[in-house]
Amino acid sequence: MADTFKIGLLGSGTVGGSFAALVAERADAIAALTGHRPEVSGVLTRSKGDFDEILAEADAIVELIGGIDPARDFVSRALQVGKPVITANKALLSTHGEELFAVADANGAQLLFEAAVAGVIPAIRVIEESLAGAYVERVHGIVNGTTNYILTEMARNGLSYDAALKQAQDLGYAEADPTADVGGADAAAKMAILARLAFGAGVTLDQVACEGIQNITSEDIAYAKEFDLVLKLVGTAERINGGISVRVFPAFLYPSHPLASVHGSFNAVTVESPAITEITMSGPGAGGIQTASAVLGDLVSILRGSPRARPPAAPAQIVTDIQSAFYLHLEVEDRPGVLADVAAKLGEHGVSVRSFNQQDAGQGARLVMVMHRTPEHDFFAAVNQIKDLPAVSAEPRVIRVIEEEFVE
Ligand code: HSE
Repeated sequence: MADTFKIGLLGSGTVGGSFAALVAERADAIAALTGHRPEVSGVLTRSKGDFDEILAEADAIVELIGGIDPARDFVSRALQVGKPVITANKALLSTHGEELFAVADANGAQLLFEAAVAGVIPAIRVIEESLAGAYVERVHGIVNGTTNYILTEMARNGLSYDAALKQAQDLGYAEADPTADVGGADAAAKMAILARLAFGAGVTLDQVACEGIQNITSEDIAYAKEFDLVLKLVGTAERINGGISVRVFPAFLYPSHPLASVHGSFNAVTVESPAITEITMSGPGAGGIQTASAVLGDLVSILRGSPRARPPAAPAQIVTDIQSAFYLHLEVEDRPGVLADVAAKLGEHGVSVRSFNQQDAGQGARLVMVMHRTPEHDFFAAVNQIKDLPAVSAEPRVIRVIEEEFVE
């Protein structure tokens, strides 16, 4: 006979509601698997329930209220009394993760958070367990479903940015305030968490360089098709010269990059390590039932009982001087010497052109080019001078390009 395992559920929103339904639906199967039958014993909502009472009765706390306060206090108090906690709270973990890991460690309590990053994709489990002994060099991720949905709809169906965002909200992918999605902060929080686990260094949200997709236009996506490039909001966490860089930017990918074919609200995480080359995991990254499934997976891990070691991390040494390849789009007057002037500025700053396309554009010409990797400050110095050339008639459009391709 399975004993009852009581869950104190904090939050009854999209994910909380789905989780409660999923626990009821899967209770028998989980009991057969683990010998413990999960049951939601108390629910804390904005207007109902008392945390102390819920905690006293529960064997574990599932925190799905989001935000920093009061979630930080609730998670900490549960861990202090040695109760396991499962959370999907990326904002909390990317700002106060180290503090909470320490409380968990000191009290022998598990803190699991698979649902905080990339929805139902088991990226955290793979990094913390399968690859626990690997030397991870780089993690790339499409870790925000809303922005991936928007970019996919703009590219495939010609939707405007605003129309695609509205659809993503209607489908329940976006945060309550979608600024965190489209501005990149949601992806940045997830990349900080992945970097912490992959490199064992205490990366926090404020250390992640971040740019969103608010300024991307349908034209950017259309022109880049000439070069066979696909636009994604990409998070990168990598080791550079003994330090670490974590950043989130809209980036063009070549079709043979594993993230290039990840569309709609799907997320994907690519982990690179010399011993494994690369692995890519992909799947639904947003949505109530999908995220709740990741929480349920953590619950089963707790019921099975094999705690994960998570030693304290030293603060990360953040490297800001990085190299990137770039896409550059210029509107110029179509007359002799203009291309030479642009090329001269690039050459003066050591920027090398990889591919180039010129098209008529009304009275002038449209120059679209892709550069090889170069120190970012050199490229931006060149663009600063290019934009002031008399023949350049509009603000240059600049988007990073990820040159890596993985070919079997
Ligand atoms: N708003 C998030 C997204 C939900 O779009 O990916 C999952 O964290």
